[in-house]
Amino acid sequence: MANEIAIKVWTQPTDAILVDAESHILHYELAGPAVISGVQVETYPIADGMFALSDIEARIRIADDHTPGTRLVCIENTHNRCGGTILPPELMPVLRALADQRNLKLHLDGARLFNAAVARGVSVQAWTPYVDSVMIAFSKGLCCPVGSALAGSRDFIREAHRVRKLLGGGMRQVGVLAAACLVALDTMIDRLAEDHARARRLAEAIAEMPGFSVNLHTVQTNMIYVRTERLALEVERALAERGVLCIALDPRRLRLVTHKDIDDTAVEYAIRAFQAVAE
Ligand SMILES: Cc1ncc(COP(=O)(O)O)c(C=O)c1O
Repeated sequence: MANEIAIKVWTQPTDAILVDAESHILHYELAGPAVISGVQVETYPIADGMFALSDIEARIRIADDHTPGTRLVCIENTHNRCGGTILPPELMPVLRALADQRNLKLHLDGARLFNAAVARGVSVQAWTPYVDSVMIAFSKGLCCPVGSALAGSRDFIREAHRVRKLLGGGMRQVGVLAAACLVALDTMIDRLAEDHARARRLAEAIAEMPGFSVNLHTVQTNMIYVRTERLALEVERALAERGVLCIALDPRRLRLVTHKDIDDTAVEYAIRAFQAVAE
């Protein structure tokens, strides 16, 4: 909802927005930008979480009687479908300069932005001052039962509140949920480094096993994407029978995620389960 609210605030029906070809907005939000905001979604290519500025620039459209004008560019960090990869902060000033030059807004889907910050050893402000709006999720590595936050200028948030209400997100007595988010901000950020270290241990072990491959370059935070020779769904089920839960994202690709409740013992257990399935 936070991404969709931002898109609606920044656009008018008949506009175009640019998202990367692997983005959450494109793959997992039910054509929300078309339904909620009446905008055309266009994509720019991405590989291992990286994109070329020239690929964005080449896709910016100028509005006329026939053409939807590009109004907004969305980026994702860390990047879910690219493996939890980090968008280098060095890219942000150049992206901002392009947006200013072409009169575009920038929205950051930072559902896992704290993972990026901890992994890089920087503050989230390595990215946030360069965008017009940012969403973060509390319900992923930060371990809350529910919740996301959307940030931007005062005027942006005033309008975002109206859109949230329109979408049915104006909840009452929500402090009980927000309390968990406050606890998470105090206690869950620094420990993300443990999730990253465990993901690396798991990834390196699985990469050695027959029948599986892992692009270790993309294991930068708490996610591991495993390519499978067998159908990923079969492997997912075989692992589930051994008590290891992961998801077959594509026919031959599994996603594993480490989090607060996966300790060192659980990682070693998961490695043994993979070994059993690999044999
Ligand atoms: C990159 C990214 N953005 C946004 C979201 C949306 O979060 P939620 O499902 O909590 O609304 C997700 C959820 O998986 C995500 O991975």
